[in-house]
Amino acid sequence: MGEISPPSPQRFEPMHHFTYHDGILHAEDVSLPRLADEVGTPFYCYATATLERHYQVFTAALAGLPAHIHYAVKANANMAVVRTLADLGAGADVVSEGELRLALAAGISPKRIVFSGVGKTAAEITLALDHDILQLNVESEPELEAISRIAVASGRVARVALRVNPDIDASTHHKITTGRKENKFGIAWTQAPAVFRYAAGLPCIEVVGLATHIGSQITDLHPFRDAFRRVRSLVFQLRTENFPIRRIDLGGGLGVPYDNDAALPPQPAAYAAVIRETLGDCGCEILLEPGRLIVANAGMLVTRVLYVKEGASRTFVIVDAAMNDLVRPTLYDAFHAILPVVAPPPHTAPRVVDVVGPVCETGDTFATQRPLPPVRAGALLALASAGAYGAVMASSYNLRPLVPEVIVKGGRFAVVRRRPSYAEMLALESLPPWLTPP
Ligand code: LLP
Repeated sequence: MGEISPPSPQRFEPMHHFTYHDGILHAEDVSLPRLADEVGTPFYCYATATLERHYQVFTAALAGLPAHIHYAVKANANMAVVRTLADLGAGADVVSEGELRLALAAGISPKRIVFSGVGKTAAEITLALDHDILQLNVESEPELEAISRIAVASGRVARVALRVNPDIDASTHHKITTGRKENKFGIAWTQAPAVFRYAAGLPCIEVVGLATHIGSQITDLHPFRDAFRRVRSLVFQLRTENFPIRRIDLGGGLGVPYDNDAALPPQPAAYAAVIRETLGDCGCEILLEPGRLIVANAGMLVTRVLYVKEGASRTFVIVDAAMNDLVRPTLYDAFHAILPVVAPPPHTAPRVVDVVGPVCETGDTFATQRPLPPVRAGALLALASAGAYGAVMASSYNLRPLVPEVIVKGGRFAVVRRRPSYAEMLALESLPPWLTPP
């Protein structure tokens, strides 16, 4: 095992704004130890500059295309994050009533909101129609029928795009691949013309185009190219049947670097080149729904070491964050870089440790046999690339309160989601009448 020289985030530097100043990890100009003192650990911390940079890099890559960005709120639904992106011009892709309400509350115009998802409820469809959002992406004939019924009853016309399943393997983790025919998503692309014909006969439905989304954390452009070609062939086929396809929604999915030692995923410019090559000339407005790409490296989960336990065969670094706060490692075997908040002296030899949380199951492990600079109880660690699918996937398993979220801008910071009190958590519960109160 070589030296750690240093826990240097140099390779991160172009991508995010968590850097060491005088050996202390900062989010922009705010030191993480200071935040830990103010907020308590664990907490999520987001860097506005990274959000802005990623949004701008993605927008610049799309220059010249008739493209609009609809940020996938599911990746990070913090209102301050969504508002920051709205200020930069982003629309939203939402998948639930909660996300729709949040996007509206964050100031995103309904005209810039797309509603995706395979199982929209009647209440969600009604709310979407009441707000006259840009479009609903429809994934099945029964869903089309439900939207038509609700639209008729409320005297509105529903603009829909049919989400097609192009039967392409995105070569990503099996739990987040969505574009294969055995996945629950979309209408088989081979059946799309028949469903278009069917939709044309339904009252109060206006089909405006096609949508697709083949998966997430995709690190190879080939699946995108193959899927977009299938979309292209459908656009032209449907036009021969006089369906005016004017909008295509290509979903999200472009991967981000999690591991300093792994190959970098394709750059947004290369992804945009694939869009230009496959769909640039089809005369359609293009919607994109990036989530992870915008927010993943804009966030860290900061945690404190509780104990260092020398086990029979391993050293366990037991931290105060757990799988309920960041579930990706245990759910997808995801890698998150772990940085010491206080940089070790140069040439410090690493120790190979397991970084684990306090939750009572072995799956509560953030890193297995990871070389880290030696740490002691009380030290702060930062789990990197936690801005996407971090806080949004948290639960209160083991009755642990959801952790707060802090956003930084330059030298300023704000707690934008506070930690609930135990009283608030317990207030949601009640005893049934047949139990005597304690
Ligand atoms: N559009 C649709 C319809 C989606 O289902 C998703 C993600 C996105 C856009 C955004 O994809 P992105 O650009 O973020 O890859 N929890 C998993 C990821 C689940 C992704 C679900 N859909 C994880 O932590 O890796």
